[in-house]
Amino acid sequence: MRNLFILFISAVAVLISCQSETSSPPFHTFDPDPWLDKGSQVQAASFAVLSTKLNGSLAKSGVEGAIGYCNMAAYPLTDTLSQMYNCSIRRATRRPRNPQNRANEYEFAILDNWEKDLKNGVALVAVVQELSPDTVMYYGPIRIQPLCLNCHGKVGTDVTPEIATQLLGLYPEDQATGYSLGDLRGMWSIRFINQN
Ligand code: HEC
Repeated sequence: MRNLFILFISAVAVLISCQSETSSPPFHTFDPDPWLDKGSQVQAASFAVLSTKLNGSLAKSGVEGAIGYCNMAAYPLTDTLSQMYNCSIRRATRRPRNPQNRANEYEFAILDNWEKDLKNGVALVAVVQELSPDTVMYYGPIRIQPLCLNCHGKVGTDVTPEIATQLLGLYPEDQATGYSLGDLRGMWSIRFINQN
């Protein structure tokens, strides 16, 4: 009888422990803050190198000479950053110059939200998303500054007809002109991988 009682108690204990396992699965909370930090560091470093080089070549050899420098592939720093942070860095837009930079559907949706924020006078803030336990995406807005108008502004006023012709020669499907100061040009789309 005593043995039976012990068996009964153990059975109840097993049942309770099983139940508590199913009713409260291991909790996983995602803290976006470290990713917002990391993402903004990668974004700031990438943008700094790109705009320094663009500014330098604009001053030295004019818009024509600078055309090749608004291209992430032109910068070894991107590789260094990718290795340092274990991430891949790209820029995405709804109106690409280089078709490879066309936004995917997630990026498109975020760009749409930012466009709405811009219209409503709301400040644009970066977004992070956990895609899987070891992959996190960081998206940061890219706005048009005075420097950018040389190649992304209105043709005839900001972009000279010569430069427009040259851009069309290189990028026959170019959609990346016609922007004004402050417009949303696109986003940094940074994928942090193998983070565990
Ligand atoms: C001297 C010309 C020039 C200037 C100035 C310039 N860009 Fe570009 N931009 C280009 C070219 C050319 C490409 C296509 C690069 C490629 O093949 O990936 C491009 C591509 C881009 C892209 C990638 C999306 C796409 O359309 O392919 C973004 C984003 C972008 N530029 C933002 C900017 C911003 C922001 C500035 C100002 C800080 C700027 N550009 C200044 C010429 C320029």
